[in-house]
Amino acid sequence: MNILWVNRLSYALHSQDVIIYYTGTGNSLQVASSLRERLGGDMLSAADIVRGDCVLEHDGIVGIVCPVHFYGLPMTVVDLLSRISFGNGDPEIFLVLVCGTFTSKADFEAEKLLSARGLDLDYVFSVKMPENYTPLFRVPPQRAIDEMLSGVDAEADGIVSAIEQKSKGNHNRNVGLRFMTRVARGYFVRGRKTSKFKLNDRCTGCGICAGICPVDAIEIKDGRAVWVKDRCDLCLACLHRCPSWAIERGRLTRRERYVNPVLKESR
Ligand SMILES: Cc1cc2nc3c(=O)[nH]c(=O)nc-3n(C[C@H](O)[C@H](O)[C@H](O)COP(=O)(O)O)c2cc1C
Ligand code: SF4
Ligand code: SF4
Repeated sequence: MNILWVNRLSYALHSQDVIIYYTGTGNSLQVASSLRERLGGDMLSAADIVRGDCVLEHDGIVGIVCPVHFYGLPMTVVDLLSRISFGNGDPEIFLVLVCGTFTSKADFEAEKLLSARGLDLDYVFSVKMPENYTPLFRVPPQRAIDEMLSGVDAEADGIVSAIEQKSKGNHNRNVGLRFMTRVARGYFVRGRKTSKFKLNDRCTGCGICAGICPVDAIEIKDGRAVWVKDRCDLCLACLHRCPSWAIERGRLTRRERYVNPVLKESR
């Protein structure tokens, strides 16, 4: 077997694998990138997939990496898992929940949605990363942020090792209070109203927010950002990643912004 052939073979195997990520402020992207460095395969954005038919060719290892939103899955990930299909393929699926405090039943939600599509959720993991829900909470101090971000590669090593050893099951160490999902999901419907965003006079009309919004809820009109949908995912990408700090959502959000360094270049 010559080297070229081996390389082609390994490419063919890896191209069956995919890591699907969804991110607001880059934490899940950092985790997904670290996993991809170790597992190989393609890396796709959930927001891009749901703009299409959600049919994937991948039939190897499929990873889904996303933040926890209101003790459940982000709405785009709910949309993805409600429609995802691998044709006749039977991939091995893992979920990594990226949370600020705890996940509650986000893992059960994913399991249920996949099961309705005839798919098994083979592994669940979670990684604690800096909190970005600034309408209510503070971003952690820089020292704590540095500690969490520098621990990502070790977390990825642990996840990959469990997958390689076929240690299937729920490895989520940040479950917390399971009942919080029921309490919080009702608020999430009202909480996602875009009318709650306020644009201050620092908006330059640069268009970054419109370009990164996973649900295309923002357009630039007359040189300013305008929300064109009643509800959005509330991922807070626009608020945190606006270079002018022009987007607010309540008084508390004026204090600080958080962007994971993996996204700093795109600000
Ligand atoms: C709308 C919203 C709701 C959130 N709800 C939770 C939650 O229920 N539990 C939790 O641990 N973190 C919660 N967070 C924090 C994020 O999950 C956490 O900061 C995550 O690292 C963000 O990942 P990202 O940078 O990939 O968007 C929430 C964040 C947002 C924006
Ligand atoms: S990213 Fe900020 S400055 Fe740029 S258009 Fe959006 S709100 Fe305005
Ligand atoms: S409008 Fe902002 S918070 Fe809402 S989904 Fe788009 S980027 Fe995320």
